[in-house]
Amino acid sequence: MTLEHVGIATSSPDQIALFEHLLATAPYKSERVEREGVQTHFFGDGGRPGAAPKMELLEATRPDSPVAGFVGKRGPGLHHLAFEVGDLDAEVERVQTLGIRTLADAPKPGADGKRIVFLHPKDTAGVLVELVESVRPDRQWVEADGLAVGVSGPDDAPPLLVLHGALGSTDLETDRLIRVWEKTFQVYALDFAGHGRSADLAAEVPNWDDYVSDAIAVFDRFGLADAAVFGFSMGGAVALALAVRRPDLVGRLAIHGANVQWDEAEVEAMVGPMDVDRMERDHPFWARRLAETHGASRWRRLVAQLIAFTRGLPGLHLADSELARIACPTRVSAGDRDRFFDVRHAVGLYRAIPGAQLQIIPGLDHPIQGVDVPTFAAEVGAFLSDG
Ligand code: CO
Repeated sequence: MTLEHVGIATSSPDQIALFEHLLATAPYKSERVEREGVQTHFFGDGGRPGAAPKMELLEATRPDSPVAGFVGKRGPGLHHLAFEVGDLDAEVERVQTLGIRTLADAPKPGADGKRIVFLHPKDTAGVLVELVESVRPDRQWVEADGLAVGVSGPDDAPPLLVLHGALGSTDLETDRLIRVWEKTFQVYALDFAGHGRSADLAAEVPNWDDYVSDAIAVFDRFGLADAAVFGFSMGGAVALALAVRRPDLVGRLAIHGANVQWDEAEVEAMVGPMDVDRMERDHPFWARRLAETHGASRWRRLVAQLIAFTRGLPGLHLADSELARIACPTRVSAGDRDRFFDVRHAVGLYRAIPGAQLQIIPGLDHPIQGVDVPTFAAEVGAFLSDG
């Protein structure tokens, strides 16, 4: 284990300026980790492997974030020491056998291209210790209008926008597919507003245009047009709406587990499991995953927003006549065991969109985590690059 960085909690922007003056350099990277309610500023040698330890200045973005709590109790100052390890999962197991507790059940994505876990300071002599493992140094999280976009893959490769589902995130749902696609595409993976690494959604009841605007913001931020787009579930519906409204942006389209013609019974089936108290009681692991993905203080609000959003869906159909205007090559896929959307929706999309291809995957339920990643990623990737 080597010291990777030192984390310092700040209580005002002056303190960030102070370190800029002291070190006579600007941070090489500033990154917001919305889920943790923290804005980070990194000083050091660009985070290159083997470089001297970095310094991470932490700035709370919300009064209820862990850093704000720390500053409130102890004031600004040394917050944590971070040690780099080769295999984080193995290292977590090892320290647990030493009787040292971790603060989260599983490692989670941190700033600056790391997977991280914190150890319980009561078990480590009062020092907050963070273990970090470098992952994909080639994925950069870039901010676009408060939205987090994970950019990876070769600069000169064709662009691919990847959209996750409602209550999901890039890390939670599409990460493993992207690892395959980033070999042949420059991938732009959006976390929708209120989800994962992105800032909160302002509206209490999001409307369809909010999520479509999120996708358009990525095209604007990076100057993309005529790009390949992959969308899962809500992300798939957003991708379809985008292809209808902005045919200039979408060059090729693949959607999975998506529906744009919801009925009341389907809305009830989607809203039912979104009961926060029941989730925590009956599916505590899932509730913890959502809290880790979206932030412990944010995920309940997100669920409430998505319930309101989902209830409005039956009034927001994309009609077959609109789908018929999609002129780009389109691939529709779905599982035949999808608990939310009957396969007739996938078949309906396939029939409505001129020249669309259809794949029904036997035995597959709604969550995209259930696909056979190498096969599915290869098939979708081949379709999207065949331009
Ligand atoms: Co840190």
